[in-house]
Amino acid sequence: MKTKFTMAVKMRRTTNRLLLLSFGFLLFGGSVSAQGITGRWATYGKKMWNGHWEQEIIGLNQNGSVITGTFESLTGKTNVHGTIVGSHFEIYAWDRKTPALVGDFVNGELHGTMFGRPFVAKAARPEDEIPAVEYIAPPSLHIVLKNGLAKTPPMGWNSWNHFGEDVTESDIRAAADALVSSGMRDAGYIYVNIDGTWEGRRDSHGNLLPNRKFRHIQALAEYVHSKGLKIGIYSSPGPYDCAGYPTSYGHEQQDAIDFARWGIDFIKYDWCSAEKIYHDDQIRAVYQKMGDALVATGRPIVYSLCEYGREDVQEWGADVGGNLWRTTDDIHDSWGSMIANVERQAAFAPYAGPGHWNDPDMLEIGNGGMTSDEYRTQMSLWALVAAPLLAGNNLQKMTEETKSILLNKEVIVIDQDLLGKQAVPERQGDLETWIKPLSDGGAAVGVVNLGSSTKTATIRTAGLRLRGTVTHARNLWSHEEVQFAQGVYSATVMPHATLLLRICVQTGPNPRE
Ligand code: GLA
Repeated sequence: MKTKFTMAVKMRRTTNRLLLLSFGFLLFGGSVSAQGITGRWATYGKKMWNGHWEQEIIGLNQNGSVITGTFESLTGKTNVHGTIVGSHFEIYAWDRKTPALVGDFVNGELHGTMFGRPFVAKAARPEDEIPAVEYIAPPSLHIVLKNGLAKTPPMGWNSWNHFGEDVTESDIRAAADALVSSGMRDAGYIYVNIDGTWEGRRDSHGNLLPNRKFRHIQALAEYVHSKGLKIGIYSSPGPYDCAGYPTSYGHEQQDAIDFARWGIDFIKYDWCSAEKIYHDDQIRAVYQKMGDALVATGRPIVYSLCEYGREDVQEWGADVGGNLWRTTDDIHDSWGSMIANVERQAAFAPYAGPGHWNDPDMLEIGNGGMTSDEYRTQMSLWALVAAPLLAGNNLQKMTEETKSILLNKEVIVIDQDLLGKQAVPERQGDLETWIKPLSDGGAAVGVVNLGSSTKTATIRTAGLRLRGTVTHARNLWSHEEVQFAQGVYSATVMPHATLLLRICVQTGPNPRE
């Protein structure tokens, strides 16, 4: 589902300070001359849902066989470097080991592949240039009023992981219907979150309108509310979201007021093109601006920060009014991505608690890229680290197995425990043990087998920091009681599976053994 624009979100701030290449390149851009490939080259991708075209400008400077320059889209800008031998060029962007642009310079045009997809770039005309944006300084820092929401990690569904840029209003309505009919709403999944690419254009009053995939957000919100659910929306502090659709830069208050008027209950605010405008050390102030704007609306709106963990967001996320903050790059529907994202949470455990949560990104359960054991591991680990549980699959086409994972109420209870403590891992060989203290004095314990062969996990109550005497223990996937013998329990764990137990204790003066 990722586009060039989506990939552009990964551009690093450090690359954005490069001065634009000389305007002289624009004047001579593309001409077949002694300058060779030197010039500014415009390329267009697909037509977007708001009628605009995906657009990039490649500014190149050739010196012998060496190429330097910039690559810019609506959402980001980065330095590039490469070589040209004869007519053949290979150009690298970001830290990638394979060239981002490969092709030939023929008849005054660049022909080849860009991130593996065919492209043609022609000499840029003035109207091809990416529109410049006036800089608006962010506010000075203060603490934003708490909204009192998300006392437990938010639960619901988000459109991005399955539908990506193609999500429509009817997909959102169908997701709301499916949350009800599947029993997920009653299990706690109440937010129905529209991710990026709902945006169209701004009207003459500056109000952001949806694109043609969405008729009327307010009517959609009413529909979602009529189902006993809440609705979320998505924007960015930059002028464009990660797919190039217009977002809240310079319109923060206006958008917050509109979102509140439409009945929005949750906003995901995604850094994306903001990196073209601000330095990383301004991120906190930028997020504070929307935090204040949301509070000023008077409507309870959960505030989800999405800036991929930059600038130690866990240290200030709650102070800008954030209820959850992404701590990682985007999750993908693979074991490696999922495990990497959750392991990154360990260092952030002290910052999670009622009202403010670390967010290792959304669930991939049911999307098909992992085995059932791996999806049970995602559910287990997300619950242990008190992560938001935002399903990201097609709710209308869930297998019974997917339902049994997402709807495992004994696991959901661990995630939603009122103490709000986040587990941290301890690793022994291929086995990684996560212990989450629970509000009743007991604990949830998950042992993940990271290896490729079956292992035996041993759990000792002595190491669990329990606040009482063990009364009983349950396996939360087999839904059976398990017996500890002299404080020890052992079980086999299949590769990439998780043994997940809840250990219950009696805290009173006469504990039952
Ligand atoms: C970024 C976010 C994703 C998703 C996409 C949408 O990559 O991290 O979660 O919102 O943007 O373009």
